[in-house]
Amino acid sequence: MGLKVGTAVNTDALVDDPEYRAITATQFSSVTPENVMKWGLVEPTRGRYEWAEADRLVRFARAHHQVVRGHTLVWHNQLPEWVTAGTWTRAQLRGILRKHVTDQVTHFKGQISAWDVVNEAFNEDGTLRDSLWLQKLGPGYIADAFRWAHRADPKAVLYYNDYNLEGIGPKSDAVYRLVRQLRREGVPVQGVGLQTHLDTLYDFPEKMQFNMERFARLGVDVAITEADVRIPLPVSPTEGLAQVADYSQTMQACLAVPRCVSYTVWGFGDAYSWVPAVFDGEGSADIFDENLAPKPAYYALQQDLRLAAGAPPRP
Ligand code: XIL
Repeated sequence: MGLKVGTAVNTDALVDDPEYRAITATQFSSVTPENVMKWGLVEPTRGRYEWAEADRLVRFARAHHQVVRGHTLVWHNQLPEWVTAGTWTRAQLRGILRKHVTDQVTHFKGQISAWDVVNEAFNEDGTLRDSLWLQKLGPGYIADAFRWAHRADPKAVLYYNDYNLEGIGPKSDAVYRLVRQLRREGVPVQGVGLQTHLDTLYDFPEKMQFNMERFARLGVDVAITEADVRIPLPVSPTEGLAQVADYSQTMQACLAVPRCVSYTVWGFGDAYSWVPAVFDGEGSADIFDENLAPKPAYYALQQDLRLAAGAPPRP
């Protein structure tokens, strides 16, 4: 039914681990660089771009007939120190951001199907995050970033991407209003990415399908961009089942909405997951285990996809 199924890729593992490489090549139709397109990695020193790692992933994707989701252009994390430590006037910082967005999108022009242009700009209560960008540039930096990216590659589909955006709540309401407003103003925002970092400790996000449908009605694509379901360790049988149900429900919500065009997991193997380093005492979040053997969640997603052979076609 045309849904892309993707994974975030750890480019070190892609080089070092043949089994990881084989799964990446054969199980997915879309890849997202987990880190190597972030500003801090592509331009650690001002004016000296380091594209090699990202270029390698783009070549890998092409060789395996996969699309690439570009991640990410404007974010408050993993910035180069020269950006965060500098003292800039508003005009200087705006120029720096414009150059970054323009240069990066231009470098990959024609090779990226979708860009996460702005990442995680909102707080949980629906106010804008007090980032360097908001502080120095004001809320207009969001529209600017989309315009600059569109100018550099008019064919790439441009996304706003965030976490805790899956259900209905103050944050997704705020993003909904922002996207509606930007589109009224003719700003080229063309997709909304729901990161979908879930945790079996919490309830499943309320009305996920309805939420995707309301975004779709604004005329944008929707994507699940970073799915994983972490579990407090050690994993109990109940939590293990909850994980399978969570993965399956997110996939089914996506399948039910024709404009949900891709479903990406934030890494497929527990051995390489970002979760244990960031969420104390939690792990086992991925669909393959520490030895890269498929877990029940993998088979559940496969089953959902098989049963959805007759689902509405993606545009
Ligand atoms: C994470 C990576 O997985 C880690 O390897 C890195 O140390 C920090 O960033 N939301 C995002 C991703 O948009 O870029 C983050 O990725 C996870 C949360």
